[in-house]
Amino acid sequence: MILVLGATGRTGRRVVAGLRDRGVPLRAASRSSSARFDWDDARTWGSVVVDVSVIYLVTPEDPTFSAEQVASFLALARAAGVRRVVLLSGLSAGYGSAPMASRETAVLEAGMEWTILRPGAFQQNFATVGNKGELRVPLGPEPYTAPIAVADIAEAAVAVLTGEGHAGRIYPLAGPRALSYPELLAIVSRETGRTVVYVDEPVERWTERTRAAGVSEAAMNWSLETFEAIRRGEYARLHDGVQRILGRPPREFTVRETSA
Ligand SMILES: NC(=O)c1ccc[n+]([C@@H]2O[C@H](COP(=O)([O-])OP(=O)(O)OC[C@H]3O[C@@H](n4cnc5c(N)ncnc54)[C@H](OP(=O)(O)O)[C@@H]3O)[C@@H](O)[C@H]2O)c1
Repeated sequence: MILVLGATGRTGRRVVAGLRDRGVPLRAASRSSSARFDWDDARTWGSVVVDVSVIYLVTPEDPTFSAEQVASFLALARAAGVRRVVLLSGLSAGYGSAPMASRETAVLEAGMEWTILRPGAFQQNFATVGNKGELRVPLGPEPYTAPIAVADIAEAAVAVLTGEGHAGRIYPLAGPRALSYPELLAIVSRETGRTVVYVDEPVERWTERTRAAGVSEAAMNWSLETFEAIRRGEYARLHDGVQRILGRPPREFTVRETSA
């Protein structure tokens, strides 16, 4: 039995669908799922790991989420007989960003077989940027990125969860090519019918505006760290994770849901 955490989320619900298609026994868990799992309530942890051999492990996007919770949960899971874990991490772990790097460390030290998926920015993050006509972010004059389709992440996850030969591997996942923000937003504009343009906003203005909107300092600082990484070109690098796992190139950039 495979336990899918974050089962109602963007990757989790596709992983659930992919496993169902293959007829693999699974338990879909999250706070709102019938198999209730809440990272903040350890009383919900025991029942979801019963009879489970492999876990698709999704953690909240919140940068203040503690990796100690991952360590405690995996200790309980291991004691219950779980043998393997597939972590949805992020490219940021590769450049040492603490929120994701610490979650990876907890998985590496859990004493189980592990595989780590490190996707870059999701293509679907761009789906709603058209609403305001502008995307104002401090990314520099000509930022590039190679976003990955959530459908590719989910397909890769299903292959790793059900296949052999992935133990001890870290797979960085990117889209097929790096596109500039104007190129990306031209595609978003065409697909959504709403024109949106990139504006390189000064960091101070972005910070002022974001703080005024009530975003926490921790979330803001994590975004700023990511912006710095985009400016350095970390998210423009191409990675062969999809090719290695699925034996085909990653999907082209689109924000159409039907691509999943
Ligand atoms: N967006 C990106 O570009 C990007 C890039 C790389 C990595 N990531 C990482 O991807 C992960 C998110 O994956 P996703 O996009 O598939 O999910 P998602 O769409 O963000 O949904 C989050 C999932 O986790 C569940 N959840 C949220 N808080 C929870 C809690 N406290 N306890 C238990 N379950 C909880 C939610 O369901 P309920 O509300 O029902 O609990 C939902 O199923 C994050 O770790 C994020 O950092 C994102």
